[in-house]
Amino acid sequence: MAIQQAACVRVAAISVYLTLALSMVDCAATPKADRYAHEKEPNYWHDLGDQDIQAALRANQGGVAKNVIIFLGDGMGVTTSTGARIWAGQQLGLYGEEHDLSWDRFPFTGLSKTYCMDGQTTDSAASGTAFLCGVKTRMGLLGLSGRAALGNCSMSEGNQVESILNWSLAAGKSVGVVSTARISHATPAATYAKSPDRRWESDRLVPESEKNCKDIAYQLVMQNPRIQVIIRERERQTETERQTDRERERERERERREKESKHFTFCFQEWKKEKAERGFAHRYVYDKTGFDSVDPRNTEYLLGLFNQDHMQYEVERNKTKEPSIADMTAKAVQILSKNPNGFFLFVESGRIDHANHDNWAHKAFAEVEAMNQAVLRAKELTADHDTLIVVSADHSHVLSIAGYADRGNPITDGKPDLSLGADGLPYTTLIYGNGPGRPTATRANLTDVDTGWFGVLQLG
Ligand SMILES: *[C@@H]1O[C@H](CO)[C@@H](O)[C@H](O)[C@H]1NC(C)=O
Ligand SMILES: *[C@@H]1O[C@H](CO)[C@@H](O)[C@H](O)[C@H]1NC(C)=O
Ligand SMILES: *[C@@H]1O[C@H](CO)[C@@H](O)[C@H](O)[C@H]1NC(C)=O
Ligand SMILES: *[C@@H]1O[C@H](CO)[C@@H](O)[C@H](O)[C@H]1NC(C)=O
Repeated sequence: MAIQQAACVRVAAISVYLTLALSMVDCAATPKADRYAHEKEPNYWHDLGDQDIQAALRANQGGVAKNVIIFLGDGMGVTTSTGARIWAGQQLGLYGEEHDLSWDRFPFTGLSKTYCMDGQTTDSAASGTAFLCGVKTRMGLLGLSGRAALGNCSMSEGNQVESILNWSLAAGKSVGVVSTARISHATPAATYAKSPDRRWESDRLVPESEKNCKDIAYQLVMQNPRIQVIIRERERQTETERQTDRERERERERERREKESKHFTFCFQEWKKEKAERGFAHRYVYDKTGFDSVDPRNTEYLLGLFNQDHMQYEVERNKTKEPSIADMTAKAVQILSKNPNGFFLFVESGRIDHANHDNWAHKAFAEVEAMNQAVLRAKELTADHDTLIVVSADHSHVLSIAGYADRGNPITDGKPDLSLGADGLPYTTLIYGNGPGRPTATRANLTDVDTGWFGVLQLG
């Protein structure tokens, strides 16, 4: 029986059903209405509800899962999941609101509180430590309890906490980490690293005074030799639409990464050496051709490093050059599932977060759908009776869904035929509370305003 879970989505689904019921009357006027005629029948809705209840009752909560796969949509809050569901449905020619992502159909759903020890909103490092090690901690800390302090190496001593990766290895299982972000980036690093600063990704980023602590890339390769699958994606290209100062910032970032890549080169050479010395069948791949040629049947260890930085967005991915997150997930499952004791696999879709930071909802939704395809592939390759698949997010974003757009209105649309606001101006359904796309009205200066007053507007 299914032992699966999905977090953060059912509430969204319920609100979608409500919205959908409210706007049924409008459907009659639209060309697609015939396809949705069944929605006029009360029994259609009753049956839908019955099916959900029956599926939940059938789901067997007993037994112990042999294999565990955690899919983590970085920054994939409830509104991002809702928007992506609608967007994915619209790509299929549907209205979209009634569509389901794979995890909308999972038998168990819950919500989690993602605050960290010193933040109302957690960062990815503290969040990763919470959901992988089971311990809430301070912002920026990886695999350390709240007794440690940000950037302080000596205070990390004795305050390490172990992750599910360690527990899985101790239980004789195979383990793997797949991410579309840098593999030393906060979320994937939370599986294997213990670092008082998420920014210490390579040796040159660790301050001289704190060199007793090993950088994160070193820890991955030298201190976690039994991770069988490590895959992350390639560098994104320059975004021409960026402003010049952002470009300069990126240029500096690129230079920094280039220096770091020498460190990564050291690391992967050490990785290869260790596997060869111990006689493990291993492959290091850096492009799609190499990746496709990996035969999971005779590969024990796979290291896929496609470049020094995050992957390109799914909508910009060169499909002949780079594997998708679904391809990477499938390969990892095939390699790891050879272990009769089972496996633990962590898959992060890291760029949902980046797209949301930049207020690119459309790109964020395409990232979610790419992860949805990866979840479907993982479900095909595993059996419900022995595999637990968890889909969750580490924190949300400032994305909101506003107004009364018509059923089936393109979710990312900003066309002027949208509903008008009280000011007579059109607005997009999706609105980010901050970031480059935030509402552009001149913002109030809150310095002298008592923001504790009940009547005060929450002006970003
Ligand atoms: C780390 O903590 C110790 C003990 O509180 C303190 O003496 C030291 O100055 C701290 N180091 C840094 C870099 O903050
Ligand atoms: C798990 O962590 C503990 C404590 O750090 C360590 O002693 C042990 O070797 C680790 N186990 C594995 C299998 O890595
Ligand atoms: C994709 O990569 C291939 C192989 O490097 C290249 O020939 C092709 O031009 C690329 N396509 C695009 C759209 O960049
Ligand atoms: C905001 O108000 C404070 C206090 O009146 C003032 O000192 C500050 O310069 C103002 N900031 C801006 C950006 O106008």
